[in-house]
Amino acid sequence: MNESVMAEQDLCETESARESFRRDCLAGLCRPDKSLPCKYFYDEEGARLFEAICELEEYYPTRTEVGILRRRIKEIASLLGPDCHLVELGSGSTMKTRLLLDHLDRPASYVPIDVARTQLLECSARLSREYAGVEVLPVCADYTNDFELPDLPAGTKRTVAFFPGSTIGNFEPHEARCFLQRIAGICGAEGGLLIGVDLKKDPSVLNPAYNDALGITAEFNLNVLARANRELEAGFDLAQFQHHAFYNELAGRVEMHLVSRRQQVVPVSGRKVFFAEAESIATEHCYKYSPEEFRQLAARAGWEMVRCWTDDKQWFGVHYLVPGGGTGPDAERGRARKSR
Ligand code: AVJ
Repeated sequence: MNESVMAEQDLCETESARESFRRDCLAGLCRPDKSLPCKYFYDEEGARLFEAICELEEYYPTRTEVGILRRRIKEIASLLGPDCHLVELGSGSTMKTRLLLDHLDRPASYVPIDVARTQLLECSARLSREYAGVEVLPVCADYTNDFELPDLPAGTKRTVAFFPGSTIGNFEPHEARCFLQRIAGICGAEGGLLIGVDLKKDPSVLNPAYNDALGITAEFNLNVLARANRELEAGFDLAQFQHHAFYNELAGRVEMHLVSRRQQVVPVSGRKVFFAEAESIATEHCYKYSPEEFRQLAARAGWEMVRCWTDDKQWFGVHYLVPGGGTGPDAERGRARKSR
């Protein structure tokens, strides 16, 4: 592909990404209960802020999950087996991937899927240099939509989806079930799923994790408005919105909101959006599961839990699932799809 064709393709992708952001923003802000999809947090600035969140003292999930992966890596590698085809949903900085690639038995290929194109291409180039035997095939896509997977290299034994970071918590439970079902279809009957899930715990741990003293999470939350200003000619005054995050125990989720500090009218892409004082935009739900709740959710999507590894405090769970087991219509449908 020559350079001008490549540039044109990039431009098209940027345009269509911007159009979906515009459409989803307007739809979310014109409803009585305002909301914005959390996937729009991750533009280049948002991806950088999220990396900073992962380093925070209060934000336990990243280091807890990495600790579990490190401690259990031998067992994980032997469960996944030799010659596997690793597909990562939302690859980000690929730091956890390296741990897997370092210990798996001759991994055949690695397919990172991410919307953040620059980070995706940089990480992929670096990984294919460092892991000579692994075919690295990046896919720039929003994995919540349909996406095409590249063909498997010959000799691949099993497709394993890797979905770390408890991103599954961002889906509403019924969406999570549909998503897990879709992954089952992608991995096939011999496949597996290695997934990180943040567990239910005391609110005194959860609340500070989303309200850090340095205010990085607030900045991350507000960045979605800054992104609307940059990409949609919106006129949000960031000083007039407040970050608000709390654990909603009844719903079993952390909620993030941006609360209007006063009555105001904000231009967004040629429209005017009215905010009452204290009106909020819901920007993220982060569901927390007990290992048993997650086992049941996964079973309804056609997955059987093989192992759940946790840390000493039981704050985070890394689960290894394989197709099968499960009863009920969902499991049946999952099986029917796979055999087509
Ligand atoms: C990427 C969804 C796992 O829910 O903890 C971090 C995102 N939001 N701080 C999470 C997030 C605010 C994060 N996940």
